[in-house]
Amino acid sequence: MKKIRIGIAGTRGLSTIQGLRSIPDVEITAMCDLDEGHLKDASERIGGDVKTFRVFDDMLETDIDAVIIATPMQCHVPQAIAAMEAGKHVMSEVTAGVTMDELWWLCETTEKYRRIYMYAENYIYAPKVQLVRKLVEAGYFGETYYAEGAYLHDIRDLAVYPDGKTSWRSYWQLGKRGNFYPTHSIGPVMQWFPGDRITEISTFSPGIRNSVGLRQDSGTTTMCRTEKGNLLSIRTDCVSPRPHNMDNYLLQGTKGIFQSSQYGKGNLAGDLDRVSFTDSEEKCGGMDWEDLMKYSDLLPDRYKNATPEQRKAGHDGGDFFIVKDFIDALKEERQPELDVYKACEWTAVGLLSELSVTNGGRTMEVPNFRKNTPVGEMFTKL
Ligand SMILES: NC(=O)c1ccc[n+]([C@@H]2O[C@H](COP(=O)([O-])OP(=O)(O)OC[C@H]3O[C@@H](n4cnc5c(N)ncnc54)[C@H](O)[C@@H]3O)[C@@H](O)[C@H]2O)c1
Repeated sequence: MKKIRIGIAGTRGLSTIQGLRSIPDVEITAMCDLDEGHLKDASERIGGDVKTFRVFDDMLETDIDAVIIATPMQCHVPQAIAAMEAGKHVMSEVTAGVTMDELWWLCETTEKYRRIYMYAENYIYAPKVQLVRKLVEAGYFGETYYAEGAYLHDIRDLAVYPDGKTSWRSYWQLGKRGNFYPTHSIGPVMQWFPGDRITEISTFSPGIRNSVGLRQDSGTTTMCRTEKGNLLSIRTDCVSPRPHNMDNYLLQGTKGIFQSSQYGKGNLAGDLDRVSFTDSEEKCGGMDWEDLMKYSDLLPDRYKNATPEQRKAGHDGGDFFIVKDFIDALKEERQPELDVYKACEWTAVGLLSELSVTNGGRTMEVPNFRKNTPVGEMFTKL
């Protein structure tokens, strides 16, 4: 059988090497990075006779089937479009794009060239997120109606590169108002509201309180209303001094609650991911917390049965499964679950939050990126 040939752009894409290597019939044949030093290191890590390129379009002239785009976020849409025009499939790092127009171009290009586009939102693949999804599906929470997601990661030091030059993050992340990085929170949370879609958002912040000249708000809270009337509260803070906690979640339903660990890495003793369920929606009080992992039998089988090699890919196998889902989509010639429409909807929350927060929290409508596709003809199969 002919091997699937993958090209990687940007060093962050190297997080997929271990996963790709553990899947038969897949090979990494090309690597692209503007920085020659990074390119050399990357080609040594990949090994074999991987071809290296500084210019992305030159890599597209090789016989790769698909590209993993892991360059800075302002490169994602131009590179994804160029790749699809050249007949390649795409897996893109977060966020999907940096303007609303870009998001429309991305959807239209995916539809026009009928290429596979997968959004590499890796936080969805965390075992706890998958376990809560299984508990939702099994009815433990009753009807889910409210969730919180928070990405709390002080990255002020990334505004400059180690050599002192200004980095891309200085403009596209720390130079932006609003929630520039919402999808690590929204992606996981939306797993718990199957078939739902975010329709409107409103963002508030305490303003810009940092003293180092960054244009980013000192934390934002974005309220998201969904088509089915559910409510999400999405918080991002990348400029306030505090320990990191990048996967902080809460889910409330009519019969129970999930509350993730509050302290992230370096947990305080006893701070677990917790759940509490009741048999009766009418009963008040008497509920207590349990360790989420007491329900680990409900984890998807592939997590329970992950091989040591798959676990080695990182994030308890999550870094393997994301790559596996992309390769499965390529082999089966269909769109993955994390398709272009989800990528654009979740990214749009961040882009619209800039306008909301600078207009006193004004409510912004999130467009339905599927609207050009007639119902029943949703683009799922090539
Ligand atoms: N999913 C996650 O958990 C996660 C974690 C970190 C970063 N990211 C995302 O990955 C992307 C890259 O982030 P990073 O931290 O690796 O950034 P980085 O600045 O450390 O690395 C970017 C790399 O891309 C190269 N590059 C820049 N422009 C290029 C171009 N036009 N063509 C080819 N190569 C180019 C640079 O030389 C550099 O090696 C961003 O979109 C970021 O949001 C995601």
